[in-house]
Amino acid sequence: MLKSKHLIGLENFPTSDLNKIIDTSFKFKEILESPERKAILLKGKTIVNMFFEDSTRTKISFTLAEKRLGADSINFSSSTSSVKKGETLKDTIQNIDAMKIDGAVIRHGHPGSALKLTEYIDGSVINAGDGSHEHPTQAILDMVTLKEKFGKIKNLKVGIIGDILNSRVARSDIFALQKLGAEIVVCGPSTLLPSNAKQLGVNITHNIDEVLNWCDVVIGLRIQLERMHLGRIPSKREYHSEFGLTYERVSKLKKDVVIMHPGPMNRGVEIDSKVADSDNAVILDQVLNGVASRMSILYLLLGDKSEKL
Ligand code: CP
Repeated sequence: MLKSKHLIGLENFPTSDLNKIIDTSFKFKEILESPERKAILLKGKTIVNMFFEDSTRTKISFTLAEKRLGADSINFSSSTSSVKKGETLKDTIQNIDAMKIDGAVIRHGHPGSALKLTEYIDGSVINAGDGSHEHPTQAILDMVTLKEKFGKIKNLKVGIIGDILNSRVARSDIFALQKLGAEIVVCGPSTLLPSNAKQLGVNITHNIDEVLNWCDVVIGLRIQLERMHLGRIPSKREYHSEFGLTYERVSKLKKDVVIMHPGPMNRGVEIDSKVADSDNAVILDQVLNGVASRMSILYLLLGDKSEKL
């Protein structure tokens, strides 16, 4: 199993645990592609999915992963809970923990909330995205997708385009890619790049064509339209023209570049529909790999250590 009890972030996560999760994901992918699609390895375990922020992919794939593993899966949504009546995060969590749960998945807008949860819960905690801090399970499914496509991650050239400053996906992807030996270039307007990008150990450019000509794979990030009022990008149209994964740009490349995006996408802003729906895009493979990766994470964190897959 793993050295770690929780999965809070990848910055300090052991590389051996990361590799074990990735390798085990492929076994679960085989199971998902078999007629049975199930492996009852978490029977009797209760897992609560606590979503204090909206989600489509992460919430559904965790729920599906839990069901495919035979766990009892409970979904908690803050918008229909007593949080609306003013109950604090601490009280909410302690009440849920009192009902005897084995694991908790949390998405919350506040960086550090997943780590905080470990103080109130006896079982394992999995971070499903905490503000602009980390989204480790997205990065793991991205690594599984890369390994599936290229057979390896070491020395892969990966471009990450967009709002690096506010993106938990970018941070977790950078930590994972660095642990696995990839080369990384980040690209975006200077207002959306962190001032410590160099300290993060990545190269920086503001020229998307330069990245596209260099990389094997490009990860487009969602422009957080809810932050538009902060004035970090002049307009959606200008962003699309300067930093968009446009059909015009991608189609004139001399080699194939694999296109990834964590979703949700703003079609016509950071990515053109013709690019998102092209044969080079592995965006829906990422989604399927999300279920296999989350089965792997749950099994390795919560499974019976004596039971072999
Ligand atoms: N990629 C991702 O986290 O998507 P959701 O917000 O839909 O979960």
